[in-house]
Amino acid sequence: MPARTETRLSDTLLHWYDRHHRELPWRVTPREREAGKRAEPYHVWLSEVMLQQTTVQAVKPYFRKFLNTWPSVTDLAAAPVDDVMAAWAGLGYYARARNLKKCAEAVAAEHAGRFPDTEDGLRSLPGIGDYTAAAVAAIAFDRPAAVMDGNVERVISRLYAIDSPLPGSKPQMKAKVRELTPTERPGDFAQAMMDLGATICTPKRPACALCPFRGDCLALATDEPERFPVKAAKKEKPVRQGAAFVAVSSDGAVLLRRRPTSGLLGGMSEVPTTDWTSRMDGGTTADHAPFAADWQTCGVVSHVFTHFELRLTVFRTRTDEPAAVAGWWEPVETLEAQALPTVMKKVIVQAIPLAFKSI
Ligand code: ADE
Repeated sequence: MPARTETRLSDTLLHWYDRHHRELPWRVTPREREAGKRAEPYHVWLSEVMLQQTTVQAVKPYFRKFLNTWPSVTDLAAAPVDDVMAAWAGLGYYARARNLKKCAEAVAAEHAGRFPDTEDGLRSLPGIGDYTAAAVAAIAFDRPAAVMDGNVERVISRLYAIDSPLPGSKPQMKAKVRELTPTERPGDFAQAMMDLGATICTPKRPACALCPFRGDCLALATDEPERFPVKAAKKEKPVRQGAAFVAVSSDGAVLLRRRPTSGLLGGMSEVPTTDWTSRMDGGTTADHAPFAADWQTCGVVSHVFTHFELRLTVFRTRTDEPAAVAGWWEPVETLEAQALPTVMKKVIVQAIPLAFKSI
């Protein structure tokens, strides 16, 4: 497309965004910006890291909780890592929470509490990769960085009817995003692409009649917009198994222990389990329990991680024995505040159905 077309497309999208943008707690709207408000880099960074984990709706309460607890990046830098992990629990992929804390420490210690204002500067911080560097540079500092997440990939693959499959087609798509990104309002442009992907150019039944790109969209012209983005056939995830042991004391406390700091769910809390890993099964019977007791089975819990599915047979027992396990008894009322990964919350709920208000 000649440059004139790209300018027309980005102008069209920005015009749509001015009228149809979503109101999000971390967002400065076009009207607020006109009134002089500027995006807070800490808020933008925090929200972007969280949004890599889950949906906008799911992120909102976490975002509020983090800001209430740690109003600035220096507060987060000074927080005990266990508190940050506990606040993150439920968002998944806990290495991100660890990196979040490391990044806050680097900003506090090496940059006097201010985020670098360029894509390269941001990428040099721990835990900030290409996506986050581009998103923060564009949204917080109005740098013309090419921001591409899953929503943007869908919009671009449809607009240009890109036939080659993801992930191989990413560089081609990124080049298109770069061509489209305007030098004026690049942050709004990035957010507009994401909003368009989230609200109009949806994976199923896109609302093409409402789309500002409907006159230019090559996928719509093929009458099969849902066919894009084309994806390479997925490999089946391996299934791993193991057993988890929920010991409950007579006053209702649950036996927990801490996972090793490195590796999957590093440093999180868990009930004792057999030795499963992403490559290896653990035992699935009560013979593998951490101590002898009257272990009763109470079903199987399944959880899908990025690279494998885990099925844990859950056992429960009531005991007041000081168990031969390096761990502690956590009262059921304070389980909610523990850094328990979702898989462990599912396990505990399998054994104690009302243990959590929500999982
Ligand atoms: N998804 C990820 N980042 C986003 C943002 N800044 N606005 C809307 N949706 C998003």
